[in-house]
Amino acid sequence: MKKYVIAIDGPAASGKSTTAKLLAEKLRYIYIDTGAMYRACALFAEENRVSLEDIPSLAELLERIEIRIEYSDAGNRIFLNGKDVTARIREADITKLSSEIAVIGIVRKKMVELQRKIGREGGVIMDGRDIGTVVFPDADFKFFMIASVGIRARRRWLEARDKGERLSLEEIEDELIWRDRNDSTREIAPLRKASDAVEIDTSSMTIAEQVDFIMNYIGKRKMRSSYRLLIFLLKITMRLFYRYRLIHGERIPQQLDLILAANHISAYDPPMIGAIMPEEIYILAKIELFRNPLFARFISYLNAIPVKRGRVDRKALERVMNLLRHDKPVLIFIEGTRKSSQAKAGVGKIALETGKDILPIYVKNSNRFWDCLLGKKRLCIVIGERIKTSSLPLQASNKENYRLIAEYVLNKIYELDNECQDS
Ligand code: CDP
Ligand code: CDP
Repeated sequence: MKKYVIAIDGPAASGKSTTAKLLAEKLRYIYIDTGAMYRACALFAEENRVSLEDIPSLAELLERIEIRIEYSDAGNRIFLNGKDVTARIREADITKLSSEIAVIGIVRKKMVELQRKIGREGGVIMDGRDIGTVVFPDADFKFFMIASVGIRARRRWLEARDKGERLSLEEIEDELIWRDRNDSTREIAPLRKASDAVEIDTSSMTIAEQVDFIMNYIGKRKMRSSYRLLIFLLKITMRLFYRYRLIHGERIPQQLDLILAANHISAYDPPMIGAIMPEEIYILAKIELFRNPLFARFISYLNAIPVKRGRVDRKALERVMNLLRHDKPVLIFIEGTRKSSQAKAGVGKIALETGKDILPIYVKNSNRFWDCLLGKKRLCIVIGERIKTSSLPLQASNKENYRLIAEYVLNKIYELDNECQDS
């Protein structure tokens, strides 16, 4: 199985390292605490009495620094040029110095180099401040942990108390606020959430909940390698032959636990929409497509769900609702068939009964292969704004509301045509 690179960033005491360590155990991955590396640099500078303004001397120190991380059940042990500094680097003076040394370009360059080397092969969980933005911008998974400063201070205060350190809650909170500011306002690799990272507010979560959240998230996103390969080939086809354009791709949520509702103009719409989604999706497909056993196996493999048309197919409906309740994304063509232009009420029923939101998707020119190839047209897929089912003014479950919701969604889909007039 593919070995992922998992990036976890966030401010101090948001829960990164405890989560990363437990995840690494579950997945049998390597865990790298990059904060410990900056802390080791700070300690090395301090031991050698090198001022942080003295860049040439720092450069010389970096030539000589050797940081080794050893894995043990009790947590990682950090060795600085052969000496175990695990406890020392957690002390207050080094904590502050680590944030100060972390603004220096040559220090970051060296650390990032080391981190990339360790993570090259995958199967690694790295926590820090810039992992998702700088060290591994292409990481398979990116998480950004946050928690209120009061809660973070309390967590650190409890840790200090357990170690017998006498620090007041106020002192700890002041230090955290100072460090947050220093880390997020520096010029190089500041602490910030990567646009494609999933934010987790751990303020009222337990450590076990954090780990479960990430494990579930990763489990859901795991694409079978053949599915991944098909998507890759499809995307190339879409780019080369259809000159494809995705508009408002940023509206595709990181948590794809909703109904994908699209218009339908070509038999290629389902795979094309599947290809732009970050995880495997499920698709309703007319039962006639399942007549040929070989083809049936192929599309079933691609998560197609057979549906009888012309009347309510309770079995298919149940299956779809079940998938949605398990947070799987299901693609529904709202007009039912390619030839219809009327909304089918089913989507309204599914949305109201599962409470899942709807993501409108508009597809244009997927039926104009030759025009696209000849440069006259372009395949255009527009993602609409998420429709929050709970805020629709039609909450009662009845046929009339199902139909009204379906029509509302269909209108939203066709409004997206404005976004690709020039296609
Ligand atoms: O454990 P805690 O969250 O308190 O801090 P840490 O992760 O050990 O990081 C110590 C300091 O190193 C941070 O305040 C940052 O200034 C710096 N750091 C960084 O700049 N980039 C990273 N990838 C990790 C840490
Ligand atoms: O690595 P980072 O600085 O982001 O935080 P951490 O070292 O994982 O967590 C800081 C402290 O908060 C640890 O003592 C954790 O056991 C504790 N913690 C907690 O009590 N509840 C959570 N949900 C997360 C962390």
